[in-house]
Amino acid sequence: MYSEKVMDHFEHPRNVGEIENASGVGTVGNAKCGDIMRIYLDIDENGIIRDVKFKTFGCGAAVATSSMATELVKGKSVREAMEVTNKAVMEALDGLPPVKVHCSLLAEEAIHAALWDYAQKNGISIEGLEKPKSDIHEGEEEAEEEY
Ligand code: FES
Repeated sequence: MYSEKVMDHFEHPRNVGEIENASGVGTVGNAKCGDIMRIYLDIDENGIIRDVKFKTFGCGAAVATSSMATELVKGKSVREAMEVTNKAVMEALDGLPPVKVHCSLLAEEAIHAALWDYAQKNGISIEGLEKPKSDIHEGEEEAEEEY
């Protein structure tokens, strides 16, 4: 049911933890399943993501997608990080079962929430970034259909 990559990231999640005095922190939850994810970003003065950590109180797919999402944004510019969508994360993991697609949205939204926090703190705007929802449950069915 799960790809080897999903199992690998679930069993050995990368970048678990927190960053003190992070440049941006984002927390999102999904009221339907009760899962919560928090992402910490350390962004240097050139807008490059130097470090990233995550913590999740979530299912196995949420752990695997956040692990992969953090790997994909590490070392990237803020703009490049915006391209790390849940689809990109799922592709990098060789797919997820349809009922688990929403878990990958948690990772994407938590990154966006952390970028939003960073933008707010620095008084900048990031192209394509909208104010994140704190609960991604709304609109989740649509997102699943799109995929
Ligand atoms: Fe909620 Fe996976 S079941 S994030």
